[in-house]
Amino acid sequence: MLRSAARALKYCAALGGCGAIALCALYVTSSAAQSGKASPPAAAAAAGPGKASPIFGVTIPAGYRDWQLISVGHLVTDKFDQLRAQLGNDIAIKAFKEGKLPFPDGTIIAALHWTHVASEANDKVLAGPFPGAHSFVPGSAVNVQLMVKDSKKYAATGGWGFADFKNGKPGDEALHKTCFPCHGPAKAHDFVFAHYAPEP
Ligand code: HEC
Repeated sequence: MLRSAARALKYCAALGGCGAIALCALYVTSSAAQSGKASPPAAAAAAGPGKASPIFGVTIPAGYRDWQLISVGHLVTDKFDQLRAQLGNDIAIKAFKEGKLPFPDGTIIAALHWTHVASEANDKVLAGPFPGAHSFVPGSAVNVQLMVKDSKKYAATGGWGFADFKNGKPGDEALHKTCFPCHGPAKAHDFVFAHYAPEP
């Protein structure tokens, strides 16, 4: 990370200009803040073989942390406040981009959830050009939820297998019974709420 920050700084200096410097500072501080808190490479490693979700038998797919972004979200309830990202494997991303429904077998969607924390370090940098700025970043990892498409194996649940892992450990059966019924309202989009976020 230090190396990438140094690279970013060099790039920033080359760009010059106030706006560019402010933006670059934001990039550098936020990546520094995040790497400081980085958890060990993916819960996947911790999960190991045999750790499958009840009912569906879904395990954490290797390398899911490197999948492409479908969308992001911010969920606030009376119990928690989370930043969320939905990532997809190659089959998922292709289907989202082409608007293909139902999602083909082999689609996997991973929903990564973190606590939502304020970044004072970012705020300080932003305060100059943006007085009163409040920057928020992911804090600790909460859980990862998975939806795996296999229309035959999971025919009883819309073709989807579900899994919820905290620290690499699957939740219990009672928890996994709640997944499919609650995804029912998204039936018209093959039980998936997320839509592909537009390209900026
Ligand atoms: C109370 C209703 C509810 C329950 C229970 C629920 N979900 Fe969801 N789920 C949602 C909603 C709404 C979204 C989209 C908003 C968000 O992600 O915050 C979502 C999003 C997801 C996503 C991202 C793809 C998508 O559909 O947008 C995955 C993966 C997921 N849920 C898996 C699970 C799993 C696994 C379980 C069971 C352990 C589960 N969900 C239980 C309502 C629910």
